[in-house]
Amino acid sequence: MLSMLPALCRARVRGLRRLSTWQVACLQTNADHPCVDSCPCFNENQPASWPAEFRVSEEVVNRYASRQPNPLRMEEVLQMKDPEETAKMLMTEMPVRLANRIAHLSHLDMMESCPALLCARARLVRSFAEVVRAADSGASLEEFANTIRAVKERHKHQVKRLTVGTHHLKRLLIQSGKSADEAIEGIDQFLDRFVLSRIGIEMLNSQYLSLFTQSRGIADPNCDPCALARKAGAIARKIAAEEFEAVPEVQVSFFGKRDARTLPLVPSYLLYILLELLKNSVRAVAENHRDNKSKEAPVDPIVIRVASDEAQVVLDIFDRGGGIPFELQQKVWSYMYSTRRGPVSADREDEATPLAGFGVGLPLSRLYAEYIGGSLQLISMPNFGTHAFLFLERCSTRKEGMPTYVNWLRKRHLLEELVELEVRKRAAAEIEDYAEAGSEFVCRTGLTAIKQMTVTNLARGQLHLEANSLGCPCCKMRISPS
Ligand SMILES: Nc1ncnc2c1ncn2[C@@H]1O[C@H](COP(=O)(O)OP(=O)(O)OP(=O)(O)O)[C@@H](O)[C@H]1O
Ligand SMILES: [Mg+2]
Repeated sequence: MLSMLPALCRARVRGLRRLSTWQVACLQTNADHPCVDSCPCFNENQPASWPAEFRVSEEVVNRYASRQPNPLRMEEVLQMKDPEETAKMLMTEMPVRLANRIAHLSHLDMMESCPALLCARARLVRSFAEVVRAADSGASLEEFANTIRAVKERHKHQVKRLTVGTHHLKRLLIQSGKSADEAIEGIDQFLDRFVLSRIGIEMLNSQYLSLFTQSRGIADPNCDPCALARKAGAIARKIAAEEFEAVPEVQVSFFGKRDARTLPLVPSYLLYILLELLKNSVRAVAENHRDNKSKEAPVDPIVIRVASDEAQVVLDIFDRGGGIPFELQQKVWSYMYSTRRGPVSADREDEATPLAGFGVGLPLSRLYAEYIGGSLQLISMPNFGTHAFLFLERCSTRKEGMPTYVNWLRKRHLLEELVELEVRKRAAAEIEDYAEAGSEFVCRTGLTAIKQMTVTNLARGQLHLEANSLGCPCCKMRISPS
């Protein structure tokens, strides 16, 4: 029975594809669970259980997706303090951003065969429908806040869903004949843009909802990187202790003037980045110690140096975990690369991954760092250790990186045009070769006929010269293949 489940699932995918409206549902079953364990969407996202008002046509989504989202500076988002003004802005901006993401995801090759991606899309569609409905029906402030709360909750495990889905997608693309490198490159590019727009939506929603709490905003004007580094160190050590006997200490020191120690920032983002970096470092040191040192030898500590001036704060996270081989140093930025072997538990409540496993920790941290106006670099010394440098600007004027479906579509059209030009160029060269090779046999009228044939073939979408194997189409003389 179990072996029949994938086939059943495929049949359901085929069936759903026939639906004309965007009711595509999560296809999880408990027995053959393609999504993450904690994903509670099976019942919630079945099309049958969707009220009619939340079924959206593809046309509506595309209409919103053709509009440009409005990129903001982080400072602008953090300065939104009036719930009514913010709600008004979200009612126009959120449907556009969500529709862009839905369209973007839908254009991913073979996504229709990946249940976790269908599940991710179903959630986006549901959220899009709810926000549009709230905006159109003139929802009260409280009703709209509840809608945004529901959106946030629905998308809580979206990154894990995307990770599971794109790993599945990679296997399908390779089975369909793509090389592994090609498949990975395409998925990495997609995720970079797709996750970036998710971060933007998340930040807007979080800022809006925080206006109803005491903190009135998600930013902390006096965010202390040293305190957060200690906190992240404690969490990473705790997670690692479940797996390793010897876990490294995390030492934090500060270099700079006392009043330059803090900066205005969203603490949860910085904590996320530091936690991902520290989990990597703790794992590297603990594994290195277990595999290469005696039990009695002291474990090398992880050293974090925080330095700052008026413009920037820089964090250097240094571990002696054996480093990363030179030939793998670029690969670590791929969402598809991890040296973790064995099963990964994906049931943690927070967005952070467990100690290691999916390969998304570094690329996601880099995206977050860039989103908050900073940057992340890794300098690794093979057989020794790794430095992760996190640069944070005190006052970033950078706007959100806003990948839009419209721009993406335009780029795709341009690429298609480029490919077509290349084909025409090749065809023209083929005519030249033909004429040259068969100049003794092809008369002037015959050459014109060949050119005509080529143009017709191109118009029909056929890329090769039919005439290649023929002789002169005018004199019917054959060219002997040399
Ligand atoms: N400090 C480090 N020392 C040695 N290797 C590292 C270090 N940081 C990262 N790596 C290597 O880079 C790979 C990718 O890291 P990344 O954080 O992106 O994924 P991961 O840790 O495997 O999984 P997760 O998604 O849970 O973070 C790791 O599997 C590891 O091999
Ligand atoms: Mg990691």
